[in-house]
Amino acid sequence: MKILKPLKAVDRLERLESLDPATGVLQRAVHRVLAARGAADVLHGVPLGHPAHPFLVQLPTGAFAAAVLLDAVPGAERAAKTLLAAGLVAVPPAVATGLADWSAGHPQQLRVGLIHAGGNTLATSCFALSLAARIRNTGTGRAWALAGLAFMGAAGFLGGHLSFRLASGANHVEALPHLVPAGWNHLALLEQIPEGRLEGRMLGRVPLLVWRQGQGASVISGECPHLSGPLQEGTVHGRGAEACVRCPWHGSEFSLSTGAVVHGPATAPAAAFETRVADGMLQVRLPGAG
Ligand code: FES
Repeated sequence: MKILKPLKAVDRLERLESLDPATGVLQRAVHRVLAARGAADVLHGVPLGHPAHPFLVQLPTGAFAAAVLLDAVPGAERAAKTLLAAGLVAVPPAVATGLADWSAGHPQQLRVGLIHAGGNTLATSCFALSLAARIRNTGTGRAWALAGLAFMGAAGFLGGHLSFRLASGANHVEALPHLVPAGWNHLALLEQIPEGRLEGRMLGRVPLLVWRQGQGASVISGECPHLSGPLQEGTVHGRGAEACVRCPWHGSEFSLSTGAVVHGPATAPAAAFETRVADGMLQVRLPGAG
């Protein structure tokens, strides 16, 4: 099957390094604003366990699209105005969450995300001008709304590309439960695992992270759910049951005992394994996997 032209253009956009100075400036600005990790976690959607951005774009995009549809309905001018106003009010949370997620992307995501954000900025400006034109009765309200819909559609296409082609916001260890054999699996002799440092081990094709404590060990997925960063190259913070590993790529933190997200940008947990030691062999299995 032939690849559609818009998709080819987006593929080129992913490689457009001339955008990097602009993405760098905006990324540093967002990081400065999001220095407080608690606020950043809320924007990423850590408490939800999912990115918050896709959820929060529903209201503005739905309201704007509905306003354009109502423009075709006689006598619905007032309802269309109300929807435009509601959409504009709902834009800031969608922008804030989108910028937070975008700022922790890899270069291809940053480039596509920058144009996605630019398209949505143009769309929002058109809808704001549409509302203003309707309030002033200039007669251009519908045209501005149609222009906004076109920009919103193009930006939405790029948003889909970010999510589904470039896997922004996806759980990058989702496949792990399908790759680990059910039941107990031999991982390594416990005596071969040093204490006090993060140790990477492979279980078949699956990278795992081992954190030994005395005669036991905690084992979680070795790749970061955010963008597959190597957790064994991360750093350990806290002690005992509070110990967590910080990903070296964008700073997500995961509990070493439960795999739970302590800080984003990751929102999905690192899969945590049950462990036992039999005849000196550290064995692991996924909870509920037989
Ligand atoms: S890969 Fe981004 S925080 Fe780990």
